[in-house]
Amino acid sequence: MFVSDCLSVNEKGHLAIGGVDTVDLAKEYGTPCYVMDEDRIRKNCRAYVKSIEDNYGGNGLAIYASKAFNCKYMCKLINEEGMGLDVVSGGELYTAIQAGFPTEKVYFHGNNKTLDELKFAVENGVGRIVVDNIYELENLSRIAGECGKTASVLLRIKPGIDAHTHSFIMTGQIDSKFGFALETGEAMDGIKRAIAAENIDFRGVHCHIGSQIFEVTPFEKAAEVMIGFMAQIKAETGVECAELDLGGGFGIKYSFEDNPLEYSAYMAKVATVIKAECEKQGIKLPFIVIEPGRSIAGSAGITLYTVGAVKTIPDIRTYVSIDGGMGDNPRYILYQSTYELVCANKADKPRDFTITLAGRCCESGDLIQEDAPVQRVEPGDIMAVLSTGAYNYSMSSNYNRIPKPPVVMVSGGETKVVVKRETYDDVIRNDM
Ligand code: LLP
Repeated sequence: MFVSDCLSVNEKGHLAIGGVDTVDLAKEYGTPCYVMDEDRIRKNCRAYVKSIEDNYGGNGLAIYASKAFNCKYMCKLINEEGMGLDVVSGGELYTAIQAGFPTEKVYFHGNNKTLDELKFAVENGVGRIVVDNIYELENLSRIAGECGKTASVLLRIKPGIDAHTHSFIMTGQIDSKFGFALETGEAMDGIKRAIAAENIDFRGVHCHIGSQIFEVTPFEKAAEVMIGFMAQIKAETGVECAELDLGGGFGIKYSFEDNPLEYSAYMAKVATVIKAECEKQGIKLPFIVIEPGRSIAGSAGITLYTVGAVKTIPDIRTYVSIDGGMGDNPRYILYQSTYELVCANKADKPRDFTITLAGRCCESGDLIQEDAPVQRVEPGDIMAVLSTGAYNYSMSSNYNRIPKPPVVMVSGGETKVVVKRETYDDVIRNDM
């Protein structure tokens, strides 16, 4: 039902998540409020872990791209599920450390990690630093030396794949700020320098071709290109890459039309390509890393709002205003992302009304969806926006000094707050 199997309509005709009535949730925790189904998140984690076991003899690690949704509770959950963690900033790393996440299973990404962040990562024994450029490699080599440590690294390569996704989130192609380009020889030069660098343990290569991708072909193509490159590295340097990190980007269901593949189907196909290409190229099978973010958290989450003013402009549109907006979900204003809307207290009624869902910020573009179907809503109704578990809380802001909503987890019919609602005092806490 809906866009995720954790959603249903209960006997009262209300939307439920993980079997819990969302109208009750809105009453108990207030709105706006992010709600996530913990059991769904865990099932998603297990599907990835199992897919590596089933298709690749367990010779790999699924790491959660925590930029999708990060908090201490989520880090603990990911650790319990036996996954690693992808972090892209000192803040994400700090959260993981505070949650007791084993740092040897943390992969540190980013195209411009600061010197302080590199030092923080080295001091805390982060498992892999995914080096983006030569400047970073040189700094890391020096910092690791100063700390008396060796940094284990992967190099981020642009495999030149166009993954047919929104251009803002297309990163594998040559014109990208991320990583070393293959075509220009920059990548091979970087590898040679990494192999030669002091205090650096070169482990292998990484690529990430984009996000919200539905086809498997670009991933297969990326694996093929990367293994070809690994063979070239062996031929030119004699060094075999022990690890291949293929990034994340697996698509999820936002709209009823979206049709993502089972996660196991992705690994099954890519593992076949990896095995065939390694054999063809005469290189050892690498340890494989994958980095799902959105597909772990996205469809496990919804956002609940209270409907305020309903403004019908005859022959033009009906604006339905809610008590949240771009502050808690900037994805429509940034990417015109599609979302399905459900009036939580009328979920059993037909969605025969067309509305534009407007946020409360002083900004005309602060919309969550335009001309979208929903039940006939009126002030006081509870509006649910579906599939908001990824890149919503993590991209939220305090624009207009609006406090951020809480995150509530639902599991086995029980609920708990894992991130508190911000207060006005939180909003001014750094003001002098
Ligand atoms: N690995 C790397 C190196 C990445 O850059 C990303 C996402 C991932 C893994 C996880 O990708 P996922 O499985 O979540 O697609 N804010 C945008 C998405 C940006 C994705 C950035 N990188 C959005 O809201 O759609």
